[in-house]
Amino acid sequence: MTKKASLATHENTISAQPRLHQNAREIQVYGTVSHALPLELEEPVRLEMTEQLNLLLADSMTLRDLYKKSHWQVAGPTFYQLHLLFDKHFDEQVEIVDKIAERIQLLGGVSIAMAADVAETTRIARPPRGREEVPVQISRLLDAHQVIIGHCRQLARRASEIGDDGSNDLVISDVLRTNELQVWFLSEHLVEVPLARAEDAGMRKAG
Ligand SMILES: [Fe+2]
Repeated sequence: MTKKASLATHENTISAQPRLHQNAREIQVYGTVSHALPLELEEPVRLEMTEQLNLLLADSMTLRDLYKKSHWQVAGPTFYQLHLLFDKHFDEQVEIVDKIAERIQLLGGVSIAMAADVAETTRIARPPRGREEVPVQISRLLDAHQVIIGHCRQLARRASEIGDDGSNDLVISDVLRTNELQVWFLSEHLVEVPLARAEDAGMRKAG
């Protein structure tokens, strides 16, 4: 049997062996959009929107992870309520992340996905690995929300300007509204009010 014939016989053999360690070229390069889609949105519009949405995605993934970090590392008398609140906000950011990523794909783009790429792209400051006090954790989360909210307002206006109403709706209804609400829940924790005993009026004046 020639070498070629033996190879053909081998390939026709039924085998339960999975074909491991496969590799091939990418089918779409990051930063591009499919040329023609039946969405009635021109390629340049989809290119601009997917680029902007990827920035929003990277920031939202960073905020999502910052919530899990805070959920795990929180300490102090408000541990239990903050532990739960941070995880609730994490779950809501998970949903936001999925919606943004899937919108990028439906517009013909490629969603950023892996942590290393997200870290290179996000505009949110990198926190230390160690634990921080509650007021610092909350301030850090609020700063991250501010980056996202500012971008949402500018991105939503631009989306409706160039005719991408779907992206405008996603950014306003899902991303902006949820972020605004989370900001409210967080920032109320930074209001200095007595825990058990009211300050008397005289003391407050003097202070
Ligand atoms: Fe947990």
